Amino acid sequence: MVYSKIIGTGSYLPEKILTNADIEKIVETSNEWIIERTGIHRRHIAAEHETSLTMAEKAAREAMADAGIVPADIGMIIIATTTPEKMFPSTACHLQERLGIAGCPAFDLNSAACAGFVYALSIADQYIKSGAIKTALVIGSEVMSRVVDWTDRTTCVLFGDGAGAVVIGASDEPGILSTHLHADGTHKDVLSLPVSIGKPMEVEEELFIKMTGNQLFKLAVNILGNLFDETLKANGLQRSDIDWLVPHQANIRIIQAMAKKLDLPMERVALTLEDQGNTSSASIPLALDKAIRDGKIKRGEMLLLEGFGGGLAWGSALIKY
Ligand code: ACO
Repeated sequence: MVYSKIIGTGSYLPEKILTNADIEKIVETSNEWIIERTGIHRRHIAAEHETSLTMAEKAAREAMADAGIVPADIGMIIIATTTPEKMFPSTACHLQERLGIAGCPAFDLNSAACAGFVYALSIADQYIKSGAIKTALVIGSEVMSRVVDWTDRTTCVLFGDGAGAVVIGASDEPGILSTHLHADGTHKDVLSLPVSIGKPMEVEEELFIKMTGNQLFKLAVNILGNLFDETLKANGLQRSDIDWLVPHQANIRIIQAMAKKLDLPMERVALTLEDQGNTSSASIPLALDKAIRDGKIKRGEMLLLEGFGGGLAWGSALIKY
């Protein structure tokens, strides 16, 4: 049996940091409100010259160095992003050109929002397991600061910029054990970035993220609880078999509820929320890379990755690291 295994990780965060105190000067909010309701203290913001592409390249090169491979070894590039370089060519094709590896499939996964990384990982995993490719570069990269309305306090305090990357490669040893993906379009209006290509833009507000936060909060807790049950059952595992939760970093209260559901102490949750905010599809690979580089996640441990976002779209990946 062929598995895909994580063989390298990397990340990139822009230098500029925006603290809650900085945001207090932009909208009517407070450091206390933001910390209490979200768990976020600060977030990184891309400089003018930085884009999803430039950040993806930095994270990808770090992940390839970690995996001990060169660009020519890559058999597929997928970039999960809701803030692509252009509508097309894809951010992944731009990156492919920069890496000098024309020929392999390269595409963006724009549509699963904060679940994008898990969706992308699932696709790459299927290609490796089928024997079609041997190695894939899977990236989440976002400049959320360019799609939030900086006059809307209900959303602008939440998001940050950055990129995370993983290299997965074919292996005889267990690696990615399962992925479970779902979507429910009946909740399409709870969270959206309604900019439309199909019709002329009516109001400038369509350029920005819209979210009914408290409704999304309740949906997320419910959906993720069921997702964990499904993932464990499909693998014949118990909660106690999970060593690490690597969640999408949206809100500390959602993450705490999920850790409780798994009976995991918060020390066993890969967390970046406090310093990075919600970086949408970049948040899971960023958290994974940090926990590995900090020496927390170790080889052989069982990881549960979960993401959810606009669509609604959500998914999990169970991984023996
Ligand atoms: N500062 C101060 N007050 C605020 C702020 C702010 N930044 N934002 C909202 N408030 C006020 C509201 O106006 C409201 O005031 P009111 O009671 O006078 O009407 C009050 O705070 C409570 O608002 P709620 O929205 O009910 O607050 P809640 O506790 O739900 O927290 C939050 C809001 C943080 C957005 C939370 O609902 C949340 O995290 N939801 C989930 C978001 C999420 O998971 N996103 C993930 C997907 S992202 C993606 O896919 C791109």
